Amino acid sequence: METKFDKTVEILFELKLSDVMRRDIITIGPKDKMSVLQRTLQKHRISGVPVVNDGTLVGIISIEDLIKWLSDGGRDCSIEDIMSKNLQCLYADQPLMHAVKKFDQFGFGRFPVLERESGKLVGIITRGVIINGTLNRLAMEYQDEEIRQYRASHFFGDITADQKNVSLKFKIAGKDFDNAGKASTTMKKNLKRLGIRPDIIQRVAIASYEAEMNVVIYTGGGSMLYNITEDKISIKVTDNGPGIDDIEKAMQPGFTTSESWVKELGFGAGMGLPNIKKCADKMDMQSKVGVGTTLKIEIFIGEDDEAARNY
Ligand SMILES: Nc1ncnc2c1ncn2[C@@H]1O[C@H](COP(=O)(O)OP(=O)(O)OP(=O)(O)O)[C@@H](O)[C@H]1O
Ligand SMILES: [Mg+2]
Repeated sequence: METKFDKTVEILFELKLSDVMRRDIITIGPKDKMSVLQRTLQKHRISGVPVVNDGTLVGIISIEDLIKWLSDGGRDCSIEDIMSKNLQCLYADQPLMHAVKKFDQFGFGRFPVLERESGKLVGIITRGVIINGTLNRLAMEYQDEEIRQYRASHFFGDITADQKNVSLKFKIAGKDFDNAGKASTTMKKNLKRLGIRPDIIQRVAIASYEAEMNVVIYTGGGSMLYNITEDKISIKVTDNGPGIDDIEKAMQPGFTTSESWVKELGFGAGMGLPNIKKCADKMDMQSKVGVGTTLKIEIFIGEDDEAARNY
């Protein structure tokens, strides 16, 4: 394990921000209205954007600013009235390690990346980008099997001193069977890359697949939010209704309200929710008829135990 710890640190020094940063930067203008920000974040599914005037970076604005603005009444005003002007930037030629330190130091969600000579905005960097970049490099350097042995807890230990978590959000469309299961399969791949134990990945995959399919089949759509920390994987599945009036009944093995077309697709045995319960270390379901359902699932990662070694 020790060698791999060193390896991550080595990669963080080896890779430059320009190797991994996002170059397809979505920006917003200082004179744009706050309502434009809301649409931009939703459309691109991002949580913050640099504010650019005539090619010059003048500020940065995030979903936290948007939420605060909305909760303060959401009175229409311009981006420049709300954005942070106290900019913390990074340079494209800096090693990733500098970005890791900066995330630790400031706790922001993203940093603009500038070209050193021109001062022009050339990219954006988030924790997710750093993690993906590092994992891709690790994947190139190690055999698949070795990667799998690489524990997530070590990875988090290497990368940051506080805020040890990765979050990923997926939107789920109701009745969209072409894309059904995509969130769960993407997550499964990500967890493999993170080196999570195979038995845990299996439980996460089953629970999230069942939850995702229920959202596709029974609701008008929703989202799945994954949060991975050193000690657990949390999945929050939210949908926009119709809601469940008797959760206890819905949880019973064999209970289903599925129509014949669902059964024809091979679903509707009434085993989804019981399966989730079996896979989860914690499960909590809240629902309001006419509003929607929120399902929270937690699966503990834990330390290497005997079961893991025998796996
Ligand atoms: N998100 C949801 N919104 C509304 N109703 C739901 C939701 N999830 C489950 N249900 C209700 O709970 C019932 C039981 O769900 P469960 O996942 O256990 O079985 P199923 O989906 O019917 O069959 P299976 O999952 O085995 O294919 C469903 O038939 C449906 O009526
Ligand atoms: Mg189901």
